[in-house]
Amino acid sequence: MKWLLLAVVIAFTIFSAGIDSHLLRESPVSSLCADLIHPAGYSCTEHIIQTKDGYILALQRVASPAQNLSLQYGPPVLLQHGLFMAGDAWFLNSPKESLGFILADHGFDVWVGNVRGTRYSYGHITLSETDKEFWDWSWQDLAMYDLAEMVEYLYSIANSKIFLVGHSQGTIMSFAAFTQPHVAEMVEGAALLCPISYLDHVTAPLVERMVFMHLDQMVVALGLHQINFRSDMLVKLVDSLCEGHMDCSDFLTSITGKNCCFNASRIDYYLDYEPHPSSVKNLRHLFQMIRKGSFAQYDYGLLKNLMNYGFSKPPEFELGLIPASLPMWMAYGGNDGLADVTDVERTLAKLPSRPELLYLESYGHMDFVLSTSAKEDVYEHMIQFLRARRKFSSW
Ligand SMILES: *[C@@H]1O[C@H](CO)[C@@H](O)[C@H](O)[C@H]1NC(C)=O
Ligand SMILES: *[C@@H]1O[C@H](CO)[C@@H](O)[C@H](O)[C@H]1NC(C)=O
Repeated sequence: MKWLLLAVVIAFTIFSAGIDSHLLRESPVSSLCADLIHPAGYSCTEHIIQTKDGYILALQRVASPAQNLSLQYGPPVLLQHGLFMAGDAWFLNSPKESLGFILADHGFDVWVGNVRGTRYSYGHITLSETDKEFWDWSWQDLAMYDLAEMVEYLYSIANSKIFLVGHSQGTIMSFAAFTQPHVAEMVEGAALLCPISYLDHVTAPLVERMVFMHLDQMVVALGLHQINFRSDMLVKLVDSLCEGHMDCSDFLTSITGKNCCFNASRIDYYLDYEPHPSSVKNLRHLFQMIRKGSFAQYDYGLLKNLMNYGFSKPPEFELGLIPASLPMWMAYGGNDGLADVTDVERTLAKLPSRPELLYLESYGHMDFVLSTSAKEDVYEHMIQFLRARRKFSSW
């Protein structure tokens, strides 16, 4: 195992000399409003916030063409995307099929989050993306800084509690953030798609292989700090993991499991937007969860844990601390290769509250965002849950 790892690393160090420049994206700065929202005829404004640790995040506020901006906004909803995705994930299908547009059509005040490192939130007050320190974060920082501060920002603008909708990593971040009383008390309700706090039953074949082959250590050995599947080096590395072991020509299936209901002829279009970059440290943190079955802070190893946390092991995030009074709705699928039913049930058993549940046997991980029938299968149920918490007139 170790020699194989070493051989792969050496091979890549040789072959990849000089391709570092490819890691830099073509156009770091783009605007979600201009890319996807305005072209669909919806109004959209860009908001910039700066996190306490210096990252510059873009949020978009989206309203339906049917809405007259002079009218009052409905309840604010923050959409928090998953790993290797960004806020564009909520707008990739037609306005009749995509959650972001549908919520706006129902009169919600839709806010779109984009975490650090994604193409829409690609800045820092002092660091640049070529700095190692720029990528020194994992999902716990996305929870404690990015999400907590986006929630705070919306809360102050809307002057009311907000709803939170999360998918996948967006739900990991939500659970971690909700253990913080000052965040939980700004949230009126949470709708979680593919909820994850435990990850030890992951079945997505390429993910299992990445964990088995220690992809996280390989990329560290290669001197990488960001995971960018658009880079030549990552593409070659993934190819080498797949070759002779599995067919990764259908990348989405290998990395998320089977999906039942999305339109395969749109995949090239989806790939114009996804995947977005994330950090190596984040991948390592997720692999720690997969290996150890824990929902804990980042494990630095004994000495650095003592320095950072004062304990030899990283402290757990206690799901039991999430207030029972925080209403939650969750949708999960029988074919999800990442949010496995066993792990979802373990999460549910640890929560003090009893979330409303929607189980869809045939749904996979991406179906909850990209299925062409998600509106009927999922979103209408979610909207019912949200509207039951807050009455408002829509138009
Ligand atoms: C929005 O308001 C303007 C001016 O008050 C009005 O002319 C227009 O018809 C309204 N649009 C909609 C969609 O209600
Ligand atoms: C699938 O997507 C293509 C391209 O957007 C579209 O032309 C086609 O109508 C879609 N099919 C279904 C069943 O939605």
